[in-house]
Amino acid sequence: MFKTNKLYLILLIIITAATLTLHYYGLLFEGALGHSHLIHVIHARLCYIPIVLGAVWFGLRGGISTAVVISVFAFMYILLKPVVIAENLISEYTEIAFYLAIGGMAGVLVDRERTFARKKEEAERKLQHAQRLSMMGQMTASIAHEIKNPLGSIKGASQILKDDSLSDEEKQEFAEIIEKETDRLDFVVKDFLSYARPSPARFEIIDPREILNSASRQLNYQARENNINIHIDYNNAPLIKADSDKLRQVFLNILLNSFQAMPEGGKVEIKCSQENNHAVITVSDNGIGMPKSDMEKIYEPFYTTKSRGSGLGLATTKAIIEEHKGSIDVDSIEGKGTTLKIMLPVEEAEK
Ligand SMILES: Nc1ncnc2c1ncn2[C@@H]1O[C@H](COP(=O)(O)OP(=O)(O)OP(=O)(O)O)[C@@H](O)[C@H]1O
Ligand SMILES: [Mg+2]
Repeated sequence: MFKTNKLYLILLIIITAATLTLHYYGLLFEGALGHSHLIHVIHARLCYIPIVLGAVWFGLRGGISTAVVISVFAFMYILLKPVVIAENLISEYTEIAFYLAIGGMAGVLVDRERTFARKKEEAERKLQHAQRLSMMGQMTASIAHEIKNPLGSIKGASQILKDDSLSDEEKQEFAEIIEKETDRLDFVVKDFLSYARPSPARFEIIDPREILNSASRQLNYQARENNINIHIDYNNAPLIKADSDKLRQVFLNILLNSFQAMPEGGKVEIKCSQENNHAVITVSDNGIGMPKSDMEKIYEPFYTTKSRGSGLGLATTKAIIEEHKGSIDVDSIEGKGTTLKIMLPVEEAEK
């Protein structure tokens, strides 16, 4: 900043000196060439250039200072070359007054513009800060809510377990509750961390079908429990460059959403194919669907319609897909079902 200012100052001095020299040059050669009023007028107008530049680069201070320097030289010019016609003299003084006025006005305008830009920048910074605080507030409230329920269950189950009169079967049941709720806590914390502090992706060349298989296998038990049929239809699946753990998390999030959208059971269809330079993966369910107005909100962090949802599943999913330079789209009909379509570029893998 300091260096640029210095450069502008040197440039301003050079331009001012060049303009004034041109102005005086006419006077020096007047004897030989004769006085040309037109050339004098042009030279006098040229003086506005350094004045305006002074204002643009240094605000009011620059505009006025340059105008004063030029006015002093213009005044000396009048003294050196006495003007005989009164009208011309008035014109010369008017010019000087204009130098000062233009320098002042341009300077004030530039200063105002700069103050405005500074205030805007400050307001934007404050807004960003407020948004971060609000996000943190939401996040804290959401974490507290998500952690409170499993903690309550764990506490209750462990208190009951202290009772010696429990049968082995009952003990087993409460131990399972503790295990399940601990898993839930683990999932919640991982979910928050992967959204709030995502680790950098470790790209490798993979077959997306392997990740899809592994994610659906992981949820097989849950699918059976909930009467859900997973149907897989793989077409021509290309290799892609991706982080397999992150991609597995994406498919788990999407599949879990589908399961949760079908409380009475149903069918989930996973498809994988190639379209031009993209691997296209779709996951469709015949669950509750969602209204059109909700389709824009589902990727927003903390947007959830579930009593036990953090609303981070699809926000994280979208961030991961974007990290892979892909895209995600939703299509849904209320009461009929939902399809999520993911496109991932293949050309990277082929290089
Ligand atoms: N397959 C689907 N069918 C119907 N609604 C869906 C489906 N997938 C997502 N949604 C809607 O989008 C919302 C946001 O989903 P998201 O996965 O981000 O959060 P969540 O499932 O509510 O919570 P969690 O953080 O536990 O995943 C859901 O609450 C639900 O309303
Ligand atoms: Mg979800």
